Amino acid sequence: MAQPKYTTHLGMVDILPDDVRKWQYLENLIREEAEKFNLEEIRTPIMEQTELIVRGLGQLTDIVSKEIFSFSRGEDNYVLRPELTAPVVRSYVENHLDQRGGSQKLYYIGPMFRAERPQKGRQRQFHQFGAEVIGSDDPVADVEVIAFMIHIYNKVGIKNTTLKLNSIGDPESREKYKEALKSHLKPNFDKLSEVSQKRYENNPLRILDSKEEEDQPFIESAPVITDYLSEESLAHYNKVKEYLQDLDIEFEEDPYLVRGMDYYTQTAFELISPDLGAQDALAGGGRYDLLVEEIGGQPTPAVGFAAGMERLMIACEELDIQLGTAKEVDVYVVTLGDEARKWGLKQLPLLRSNNLSATMDYMGRSMKAQMKDANRENARYTLIVGSNELKEGKFTLRNMKESEEQSLSLEEIIEKLK
Ligand code: HAM
Repeated sequence: MAQPKYTTHLGMVDILPDDVRKWQYLENLIREEAEKFNLEEIRTPIMEQTELIVRGLGQLTDIVSKEIFSFSRGEDNYVLRPELTAPVVRSYVENHLDQRGGSQKLYYIGPMFRAERPQKGRQRQFHQFGAEVIGSDDPVADVEVIAFMIHIYNKVGIKNTTLKLNSIGDPESREKYKEALKSHLKPNFDKLSEVSQKRYENNPLRILDSKEEEDQPFIESAPVITDYLSEESLAHYNKVKEYLQDLDIEFEEDPYLVRGMDYYTQTAFELISPDLGAQDALAGGGRYDLLVEEIGGQPTPAVGFAAGMERLMIACEELDIQLGTAKEVDVYVVTLGDEARKWGLKQLPLLRSNNLSATMDYMGRSMKAQMKDANRENARYTLIVGSNELKEGKFTLRNMKESEEQSLSLEEIIEKLK
């Protein structure tokens, strides 16, 4: 095949019709289950102000410093959203959603953009579904958010997952911990990887996330943040664990789990799958009690998560989980001659108004070729029409699977297929 002249950008992929069916199946499932959790969908623009993302996520995070797609137009700076927590909080503040009363329980599904080096499970345009509960500091909110996340995977049929849990405390706890971590790393500063050396001053917690070989011994021996939590943070963390246990949600505590954005406080979690390879995080999230205020709203606690749709797809493939059904059409009208073709075209709306999917040949093909095409389209029935049928008002209805035919009036056909 000839090389195409135009292709998608690196790390951006087309989702073709056969796959879209699987996406729609998953999206429908997520929406249905979100309803059960009393979550409401929110949709925000694909582009946000650069300043929102920089402030929200943190200047020194990988996403902001290396991965955002941004451009300007006139005075305005645009960024393709790399995630939805900051945009949802922006929308919450801008639209005064607090005035609706109670905590806002929101969910979303949509595309995100990060200029990462593409690999399996990592794209530059990818999709997330997620939930954000804004306005509650109750550990019940943390646990409900986690329960929803895990519920979706269970419902799809992915049960072999590990929930990793940590608390990164409030800013004071974290400051104390940062100092302890730096004192621990300082004697071996020269042996740390270059990236970790860079993070040492400004973002030492991120060193714990390093995958570099040379950093591992110092990470393994590092102090753990949970030893530095304030009384309040510890109490919150203990409640989260207690409620998870009450719900029989298994978790592994990982005191080195730090997340990639600066907005996190208290609870942090990730859902890991052994079926994913190197990019093994299905989903991640946590509390961000200071973000609403950071973005200009009233002090408002919040918690949420986001999950990678592509990674969910990959896990389903690995586990041979079938998503939805193959494409089919109820009726393919096969016609012989011009008059029959005209008649066929006129019956399509009638079939459709009776809740049947219906199609016919668009290419003026022979009857034999039409039958072949009906097979290719996975038609359940063909309705075969020639001049005799038109005269008699009786048409051949062929059940394609059973290879059985009946001669029926149009009314009888519709009755039968409904
Ligand atoms: P995140 O960990 O950056 O968190 O992303 C969540 C999930 O999105 C990841 O676990 C992964 O499945 C998927 N993901 C991330 N980057 C890519 C990529 N380049 N290609 C494919 N999949 C990817 C957040 O985005 C936070 N906003 C989560 C959150 C919500 N925290 C609180 N509320």
